[in-house]
Amino acid sequence: MTAGWSLFVIVIVAINIVGCIWLMWATARRRPGQDSETTGHTWDGDLAEYNNPLPRWWLWLFGLSILFALVYLALYPGLGSWQGLLGWSQQKQWQQQVDAAEQAAAPLFARFAALDTAGLRRDEAAMRVARNLFANHCAMCHGSDARGAVGFPNLTNSDWQWGSSEQDIHATIAQGRTGVMPAWGEALGAQGVEEVVAYVQSLSGMPAPAATAAAGAARYQSFCIACHGPDGTGQQLLGAPNLTDEVWVYGGTAEAIRQTVVQGRNNQMPAHLELLGEQRVRLLTAHVLNLASAPPAADGSD
Ligand code: HEC
Ligand code: HEC
Repeated sequence: MTAGWSLFVIVIVAINIVGCIWLMWATARRRPGQDSETTGHTWDGDLAEYNNPLPRWWLWLFGLSILFALVYLALYPGLGSWQGLLGWSQQKQWQQQVDAAEQAAAPLFARFAALDTAGLRRDEAAMRVARNLFANHCAMCHGSDARGAVGFPNLTNSDWQWGSSEQDIHATIAQGRTGVMPAWGEALGAQGVEEVVAYVQSLSGMPAPAATAAAGAARYQSFCIACHGPDGTGQQLLGAPNLTDEVWVYGGTAEAIRQTVVQGRNNQMPAHLELLGEQRVRLLTAHVLNLASAPPAADGSD
């Protein structure tokens, strides 16, 4: 806050408090019963409205509120950029709570740090913490059951856009991923789009008119293989999905595929390393690996 704004706030607060005190003082000069008078309004002939001063106990409440405000404004931040005598701040309180939570969790995390990913995957306590982390940081996009939704990948199957190895999944969570599928509507034209859509459907065994799909195959070879590969199985380096299976990020209907091809898709998995730290990213990596397959055996055969 600049000094000017700070002064402005202080002046406004001071005017308000002084105004309240004046109002109290002005009202308290007249006491009940002494000089109560009517406002001059009467109804039904004899029903008069009195203008009585406030009872004393009520005035005391106002007085106490003003006193509270003064003490509060001296102790806590409230007057412009005045920090308050206690030095309290929201950030400090939050930091204290975070530090306390970190300290409480430290022995647990020290034990987790000593385990490798396979060890984490088998550790009940570690996976309990990871499930909570997933619920807090991932479920809003991937779903509480991690099965995803349109545009948000299902993490419980064996189909991976960006790779299924421990390193790949760690990198996905830590650094995030940006999937970019260019728009092909203009380059292909309406007829070309229909042909390519039929071909993509035929790739995963869906019924598609044979001649149209065959024409689409030729177009696929010139427009799509750079990313989705000559056989349509995708390329994990680019996040280009496998088009030959039944798993779809955006849906496998002709309509959904047409929309993908015509308009393109641009999607982002946010980076989480800075937010969560390395330890928690490791726990989540182990959890995501467990979603798709059972933990490796403990006898070293993994
Ligand atoms: C804001 C929404 C959002 C949040 C939060 C989010 N994700 Fe994602 N995630 C996505 C999207 C979108 C993609 C697909 C990116 C793309 O288009 O390639 C994705 C992709 C992934 C993938 C890659 C899937 C594959 O097939 O390769 C993994 C693994 C993943 N997320 C795990 C997580 C974990 C673990 C968390 C919690 C720490 C998380 N995500 C939080 C949106 C989100
Ligand atoms: C520059 C690389 C690139 C090219 C070229 C490309 N794609 Fe893609 N495609 C991607 C990426 C990356 C995604 C994933 C987008 C995302 O994660 O949101 C994708 C997604 C898709 C999907 C959605 C799959 C699903 O699971 O829902 C379809 C269908 C598709 N592409 C078809 C095509 C066709 C047909 C062509 C050629 C006309 C093509 N792509 C050309 C990179 C490419």
